Amino acid sequence: MRFSGRAAALTLATGLLLSPGLAKAGGTVEVLHWWTSGGEAKSIGVLKQEFEAAGGKWIDSPVAGGGGDAAMTALRARVVAGNPPSAVQLKGPNIQEWAEQGALTDVDAVAKAENWDAVLPPVIAKIMKYDGKYVAVPFNIHRINWIWVNPAVLAKVGASVPTTWDEFNATAEKLKAAGIIPLAHGGQPWQDLTIFETVVLGIGGADFYRKALVDLDENALKSDTMIKVFDEMRKIRGYVDPNFSGRDWNLATAMVMNGQAAFQIMGDWAKGEFLAANKVPGKDFLCVPAPGNGFILNTDSFAMFKVSGADKIEGQQELAHLIMTPDFQATFNLTKGSIPARIDVPLDKFDDCGKKSAADLKAAIAANTLLPSVAHEMAVPRAIRGEFLDVVTNHFNSDMSSQDAVTQLAAAIERAKQQ
Ligand code: GAL
Repeated sequence: MRFSGRAAALTLATGLLLSPGLAKAGGTVEVLHWWTSGGEAKSIGVLKQEFEAAGGKWIDSPVAGGGGDAAMTALRARVVAGNPPSAVQLKGPNIQEWAEQGALTDVDAVAKAENWDAVLPPVIAKIMKYDGKYVAVPFNIHRINWIWVNPAVLAKVGASVPTTWDEFNATAEKLKAAGIIPLAHGGQPWQDLTIFETVVLGIGGADFYRKALVDLDENALKSDTMIKVFDEMRKIRGYVDPNFSGRDWNLATAMVMNGQAAFQIMGDWAKGEFLAANKVPGKDFLCVPAPGNGFILNTDSFAMFKVSGADKIEGQQELAHLIMTPDFQATFNLTKGSIPARIDVPLDKFDDCGKKSAADLKAAIAANTLLPSVAHEMAVPRAIRGEFLDVVTNHFNSDMSSQDAVTQLAAAIERAKQQ
């Protein structure tokens, strides 16, 4: 234990009366997460190291699969079996859903002792709390709506970075004509939805995004704007290579890295992959906000599940404390590609992509264009997200018309809302 506030929090939470002389940090945590790619594993590795250095025992339970769908299936099985892990990578409304089922415990004593309310943006603090108490701990702020660019590949066709979707399409056509894959993509539903929501913002704007994807307004879902979004998705389908199906996102990032493709549309964990391969931002690769005004937010967090035994509870408290230390938030996010969730962490060590993300985030908060990601579970309940996944993926992988896609989407969302 590092300081008295934390010691008091632990004592409160575990009901143990530890005298300062006897106090020791540690405990045991089992952590279920999906951070298995190069950049991701490096980042979570820092937390494991710090936890162990503090005297704790770390049991790692990774479930591979970007976006976390496989991890969520594994989690459900563990909870049903009555044997949940202590900390789980969980996000947005999903945190509330598990809390409502009574599966989560809180780390509010640590949060109070360390005054988390004062150092987290209110929008993030709100997501982490259930019934006014912190049941989850945030790591970061990832931005979804980025295009990752290989500038050397663009130079081959004399193109510059696209600033509108029309420019994106024109450049993609040029690349295709030159025999270059315009867009590196992995055909997995969550990756399709990641592109889709970026296009919704780009074509519809922030208000439309909110109406259609967050408020689930039927008219917005059925609108001509949504038809235009699916038209763009159809074009994008023409810009991926024939082997895109099932490809992991980090392999798509590698295609941009090694010059096989020009672009990837992906959240900034892609930057973590470039950095893990020692690529230099601004030189070997560019981070360019995708056309559209706004910031699609994805915050990673660990939710704490109800476990029993002082050792495990102590582990959760220690983990919560460590994740929120300013030093850890800096180190983790420098390799993860995101920026810290804490607003008081200096960004001077961050590269221009990180600084741009922070500046755009601030501007988006001021302009009310900060939007939660649907693909990354920040916006709507899992069942609704599932409907988006199905329709967007079915459209992408067939010759379904934009009109049919819109009709199916609106109907599916209406059905899911009734349940
Ligand atoms: C997201 C997660 C990111 C990143 C990505 C790919 O859902 O928030 O941290 O890891 O999946 O696995």
